[in-house]
Amino acid sequence: MELNRRTVIAGAAAAGIAATTLGGTAEAASGSSSGKGRKPVKELFGKLADGTKVYRWSLENGGTRLKVLSYGGIVQTLEIPDRRGRYENVVLGFDNIDDYVAKSPYFGALIGRYGNRIGKGQFTLDGKKYQLSVNDGVNHLHGGAKGFDKHVWDVEPFTKGSDVGLHLHYTSVDGEMGYPGTLKAKVTYTLNRRGEWRIDYEATTDKATVVNLTSHVYWNLAGEGSGTIEDHELYIAAHRYTPTDSGLIPTGELATVAGTPFDFRHAKAIGRDIRAGHPQQVQAKGFDHNWVLDKGITPRPEHVATLAEPRSGRTLKIATDQPGLQFYSGNFLDGTLTGTGGRTYRQGDALCLETQHFPDSPNHANFPSTVLRPGQTYRTSTVHSFDA
Ligand code: GLA
Repeated sequence: MELNRRTVIAGAAAAGIAATTLGGTAEAASGSSSGKGRKPVKELFGKLADGTKVYRWSLENGGTRLKVLSYGGIVQTLEIPDRRGRYENVVLGFDNIDDYVAKSPYFGALIGRYGNRIGKGQFTLDGKKYQLSVNDGVNHLHGGAKGFDKHVWDVEPFTKGSDVGLHLHYTSVDGEMGYPGTLKAKVTYTLNRRGEWRIDYEATTDKATVVNLTSHVYWNLAGEGSGTIEDHELYIAAHRYTPTDSGLIPTGELATVAGTPFDFRHAKAIGRDIRAGHPQQVQAKGFDHNWVLDKGITPRPEHVATLAEPRSGRTLKIATDQPGLQFYSGNFLDGTLTGTGGRTYRQGDALCLETQHFPDSPNHANFPSTVLRPGQTYRTSTVHSFDA
């Protein structure tokens, strides 16, 4: 992989692609001449209505470039080369803070306290009933009306060996969005010398609570704003998924993917079965489901999904320790948002692959538990590897 990435960069240089396209020399693109990552660079991105400053951090290592906002821990841009060494931003986002605040469908954001939905925003824990913020019809979605995506995080840059990264901290007070306990969350974004982007999530609480953190990056490996992702080929290592009701709340069933459009056990183009008319797809306007990863919960991240864009050759591999993966095919993008590159996003112009615990787990005894108790530390990691 590393060898391959270096070859790509060297190839680009040989092909006469300008140094500016690569953001410097081949050495700079793969870290620095000493093989160590360079310290992340900070700049002012904008201000919130109350005057709070939002900063943007630029990171680069192993041929991957990342721009991260202190608001929501948002990955604003992520640039990787294609097979000819040409860089493209492959994630959806905005070029200004106002659009993120006013209308972002969670572009690139950290999601908490609970990724995806909790039915009616209700659950019972240790005999006590909790009512959460309801922000998706009658249901709770992605942490409620003001989730982790809408807060400014404390950001601390680091370099460690050949790694570069950011530690992001946010403390959610007892009762925020209806959740019990003060939850101290720490998320670490790391870029290593192979250009892999790793996310390590950690959280502690002072009262029993539920937690399910994730990242809501919208991928288009042909480039942000370049059109549909239907040609992207997707592999998911799961033979079951969790069907939902009309509000996209799991029914509790773990259904087989065999013989359905939900079968991604062999890589296939996303567009192949997206119009197959399966009732679950009609209800969700495409794919918007949790796949039950065959490996289950693992002590370390294991490979669970591969996304490949045939024309550019860009490939994303996802490894996680989590039991579930939400594949959302950008069904609610409707041509009303204009992104970083000045192009409008339409339905299916990007997809999300959110590593997670199953949606609505607090209401399903047969789903792995999302309960966190005082004294315990919630920990989960997801690794994104890129190739071309
Ligand atoms: C998730 C959900 C979708 C949708 C998007 C954000 O992926 O599963 O239903 O809410 O987030 O628009």
